[in-house]
Amino acid sequence: MIEYFIALIIIAAIAVFLYLENNWIKINRIKHSPKNLPREFMGMRIVHLSDMHSKSFGQGNNNLLKRVKELNPDIIVFTGDLIDSRRYEEEVSSSTMASLVNIAPVYYVIGNHEARRDEYDNSLQQKLINSGVKVLRNHAHIIEKKGQSFYILGVDDPYKDNRSYSKKGKDSEVLKRNINEALEKITEERAKDTLSQGILLKKGKGLSQEMNSIQWKGLSHESIPKNRQGLSKEASSSKNHFTLLLSHRPEQIETYAQCGIDLVFSGHAHGGQMRIPFTGQGGFAPNQGKFPKYTSGIHMLGDTALVISRGLGNSSFPFRVFNRPEIVLVELV
Ligand SMILES: [Fe+2]
Repeated sequence: MIEYFIALIIIAAIAVFLYLENNWIKINRIKHSPKNLPREFMGMRIVHLSDMHSKSFGQGNNNLLKRVKELNPDIIVFTGDLIDSRRYEEEVSSSTMASLVNIAPVYYVIGNHEARRDEYDNSLQQKLINSGVKVLRNHAHIIEKKGQSFYILGVDDPYKDNRSYSKKGKDSEVLKRNINEALEKITEERAKDTLSQGILLKKGKGLSQEMNSIQWKGLSHESIPKNRQGLSKEASSSKNHFTLLLSHRPEQIETYAQCGIDLVFSGHAHGGQMRIPFTGQGGFAPNQGKFPKYTSGIHMLGDTALVISRGLGNSSFPFRVFNRPEIVLVELV
C-alpha cells in the first residue's frame, strides 16, 4: 500500500514538473553591442520568438502576449515554425500574430514546418500579411529612425528549396542564394519602415536618386569592412550597412558570417530539447545531431552575432526537459 502511494506521488511530481517545463515561460535577456550599429538604434529592444509549433499558452495565447507586452519591445522578430506540420492550427497561429502586431511591428520568416505544409502558402500567409505581419520571404526592409537606418532581411528555411534535410553544403548554398535575393530587394524595391510609427511605407521606382543611393547618412565607407562572399555585385554593395537577418537555422552561422551579416536571429534547435542542468548543453537538435553546439543564447563568429531562441513549443518529441519555453529579449546597447 505504501509503495503504491509513493509511486502515485512520484508520478504526480513528474507530471507537475513536465507541465511547468513546457508551459512556464522564461525570459532570456541578452545585451549586445554591435560594432556597426547606427547611433540612433542604441537602446533598441528586440523581442525574439520562435518555434511555437501551434502551441497556446492560456486562452488565445494570453500568457505569451502578456509577457511580450511587459517587455515593451521596439520590434518583434519571429524566426519560423509558427505552426507544426503534424498539428496544423491556423486559428491560434494567425490570432497570436495579429495580437503581437498590436504590441510592436512584427517581422517573420518561415521555418521547415511552414515549408512542409501547402496550407501555409495557400491560406495562413495571406492572413498574416492582412493583419500587418511583415512576412519576409527572401525579402528585406529598411528600418529608419531620425535619418539613420539598417537593413532587416528574412530568408526561407532551405527545406523550402531542398524538400529534404540535405547535407550542410547544400543548405548553405540555398541560404546564400536566399540572402542574395533579399539584399537585392533593397536596391529593387526600397521598402522603408519608420520605427517610430511602426507602419510600412513601401516605396519603389520613382524615388529620388539620393533615396535610391544605398550610402545612408550616418554610415560611412570607413565603417567595419565586411565581405559578402559568393554574393552578387548588387548584394555586396550593401556591405557597409548594419544588417540584421532572420533565418530559421542556427547551425548555418558560418554561412551568415561569410555573407557579412551583423546580427542573426534563429530558432529550430529547441534548445536541444532536453538540457543537462547547470551545463547549458542541449541533448539533440535537427541538423546538428547529439550534443549540438548552437541551441541557445548568443554566439559570435568574427563580427557576426547569432542569437538563438530555444523556442516555445514542441514538435515530434512532445516534452521539454530542463528547457522551459523561452522569450528572448535583445537590447542593443
Ligand atoms: Fe521547430
